[in-house]
Amino acid sequence: MKNYITLSDIESLDELINEALQLKKENSVPTLGKGKTLGMLFFNPSLRTRLSTEKAAKLLGMEVISMNVDKDGWALEFEDGAVMDSNKAEHIKEAAAVLSQYCDIIAVRAFPGLEDKEKDEAETVLNSFKKYASVPVINLESATGHPLQALTDAITITETKDKDRPKVVLTWAPHPKALPQSVPNSFVEVMQKMNVDLVIANPVGYDLNPEITKKTAVTHNQAEALKDADFVYVKSWSSYEQYGKVLKTDREWTLTKDKLGNSNSPKVMHCLPVRRNVVIADEVLDSQDSLVIQQAGNRTYAAQAVLKRLLESK
Ligand code: CP
Repeated sequence: MKNYITLSDIESLDELINEALQLKKENSVPTLGKGKTLGMLFFNPSLRTRLSTEKAAKLLGMEVISMNVDKDGWALEFEDGAVMDSNKAEHIKEAAAVLSQYCDIIAVRAFPGLEDKEKDEAETVLNSFKKYASVPVINLESATGHPLQALTDAITITETKDKDRPKVVLTWAPHPKALPQSVPNSFVEVMQKMNVDLVIANPVGYDLNPEITKKTAVTHNQAEALKDADFVYVKSWSSYEQYGKVLKTDREWTLTKDKLGNSNSPKVMHCLPVRRNVVIADEVLDSQDSLVIQQAGNRTYAAQAVLKRLLESK
């Protein structure tokens, strides 16, 4: 593996999931990363991604340096040929090259603006780091994808499922703020690679990018989708069609216990952070069917498996 920008950087998903589950079982021997440095750059906030990736690197023996670029760094220019006479003090060409002097792997979190679809889909920040860094780059959640979260989700379903081909439902949920489509995009992509029966349920106006969902059933009927589900993955996202807009704020789609009532007692997943009683009701999050903490715990092993692959490829 040369970089981990999208799920297509994974050569064998099954092998990577097994590697992560093996790392979860064994006490890591921190020799592979000895003398190596992971640099983590955050243009946006994080709890799980930041701490689990730092922990994963340390379990492999790496040093970790991190920076809140949005608050502490120079404002970066990404345009080629820009005349830099405004507020951008440093060009990505120098920034990425200099970071490559200090770091053996660079990891970047950069969310979308959710105003200009074309601009967000260009993934300028992440792709510029990939272009100008001379070391591998990891996506810590970008404008359109969150592949570390998706790998975690695949690991969690693999270790929890009790049938060969479980039914997995990705259901939209309300949220007061406009959220990116990155988590559901990557979740759909990773599930499409697994032996699961995947259904996406969302209100009219909230269909995800059809290029991503084209192989998957999409319904606007949440109750119908939830029937016989083995896993229910809950996530809020803003409209892709009316790009970045919040079209629905009532609680009709909030996941409550009565919606799961007489079905299979499905396992409930969410990437976190979650707004209680808006996205998922307390009674679901606090029940034995919630996997959210186990899922967050698995972030470490997903990151460790990816870092291990990148170190082994160097
Ligand atoms: N799930 C996730 O990426 O969490 P953070 O935003 O806290 O990193």
